[in-house]
Amino acid sequence: MDFAGEHVLGVDQFDLAKVERLFEVADRMLPYARRERITRALEGAVCGNLFFEPSTRSRLSFGAAFNRLGGHVRETTGFAFSSMAKGESIHDTSRVVSGYVDVLVVRHPEEGAVAEFAAATRIPVINGGDGPGEHPTQALLDYYTLCRERELRPGSLSGATIAVVGDLKYGRTVHSLTKLLALENDIRFVCAAPPQLQLPDALVAKLRERGHRVEQTGDLADGLREADVVYATRIQQERLPAGLELEGVQERFAIDAALYDRVCRPGTVLMHPLPRDSRNDPNELSNDLNRHPALAIFRQTDYGIPVRMALFALVLGVADEVDTTAREARWYRPERFGPHDTRPMLT
Ligand code: NCD
Repeated sequence: MDFAGEHVLGVDQFDLAKVERLFEVADRMLPYARRERITRALEGAVCGNLFFEPSTRSRLSFGAAFNRLGGHVRETTGFAFSSMAKGESIHDTSRVVSGYVDVLVVRHPEEGAVAEFAAATRIPVINGGDGPGEHPTQALLDYYTLCRERELRPGSLSGATIAVVGDLKYGRTVHSLTKLLALENDIRFVCAAPPQLQLPDALVAKLRERGHRVEQTGDLADGLREADVVYATRIQQERLPAGLELEGVQERFAIDAALYDRVCRPGTVLMHPLPRDSRNDPNELSNDLNRHPALAIFRQTDYGIPVRMALFALVLGVADEVDTTAREARWYRPERFGPHDTRPMLT
């Protein structure tokens, strides 16, 4: 199986064998992501990060992952500081940047725009989120986290109940993740959202066609009750059509410690692609869960590094050369990253 030279535009291009290959490489990246070892497998290579929408973790974790393979990163953020503000087309921008870098990561507010970048170049293009469309690398790191949290291999989630909560209509991460999990057999998806933000019908139909159960509810407690994993999402304020009435919805779909203890099975894993919208509290996963061992959100962001390292190594064809250039890292690193972390980093 070969990823070399491929674009990564959506999760449909993955089958279970490809996911397994990616996860096997990501496992091998863990000592580098934990900063125990250094590798120069991508020494001399340059990654171009073009982010035309707000981002903290995707932009920085793509960049850090590339750096941790020994490569360099060049980036531009927003339209205002790029030549697109002067009317340059996606085609021209993509072709121009291809002469500068070896791989492109693009985030863009319009669905399909990243595919347009890919059509204009022969270097690999990775979709870092295209409007309400897809966010394939987030889905891959979510799937990786889910497998590690439940100690399962991809392909063995059969019978699991996955609750997806919040903005299932405009949230691209949940679109990509549910489509990717459709590679498994017999998942029960419980979609807890207000009717205006439910999972798109076409996606529900697709999951059912593949033999999965999909249930929809407007009651959060109902949705959480039998979940093995809860995937909460932020209401995508920036994508909502004008006039959509969502008064009180954030509060109704917020999970806090009391609700978790009252309705969730012991051990239910709590995930979220982040950011949590902390302008109101309780937010989607309230701050009073921060010390809860079930809260996997920061382990999830941490796993973004090995997964994105694996993807870069595979699309640039060096996945099996990472260890040959390795040496020990010597600088200080804490045993745990966060003051509330319940586990050492990246186990
Ligand atoms: C998400 C995104 O940008 O789609 N964030 C991320 O990349 N982890 C989720 C969101 O913005 O709500």
